[in-house]
Amino acid sequence: MDRTLAIIKPDAVERNLTGRILDHLEQAGFRIRSIRSMRLTTAQAEEFYAVHRERPFYGSLVAFMTSGPVFPAILERDDAVAMLRHVIGATDPTEAAPGTVRALYAESKERNSIHASDAPDTAAREIRFFFSEADELYTV
Ligand code: CMP
Repeated sequence: MDRTLAIIKPDAVERNLTGRILDHLEQAGFRIRSIRSMRLTTAQAEEFYAVHRERPFYGSLVAFMTSGPVFPAILERDDAVAMLRHVIGATDPTEAAPGTVRALYAESKERNSIHASDAPDTAAREIRFFFSEADELYTV
């Protein structure tokens, strides 16, 4: 089984959509292996999105991602990285395929309800950004 990282973003948490989005992902075959809630600090958001540092939307993105609580989650299924990106849809909700999480819930390119890792190596790094090795262990 592969793993990827999702973050339920502040716009979705604020509108009380966390459970609905997680249910959507479970229905799509993902297992929630670990989840937490937190408020990102500016330093954490800047580091997490460092790859976008030169982009014009970077400052606004960091402000948005620190504006309220988020729910980072480790999701597991076969082909998890590609499948999660498929299920959440395009960054811009006006371009997201019907029925995808962003088509259903996102408000804009920035307030787009959920983040997903873009490649397996990114997923491994992003999972470790939020979770320790111990968090990933199953004890059933
Ligand atoms: P995410 O998958 O979290 O990765 C980078 C984020 O930057 C993206 O989702 C959007 O929230 C945001 N983003 C990407 N492109 C734009 C844009 N053109 N304008 C505003 N925000 C953007």
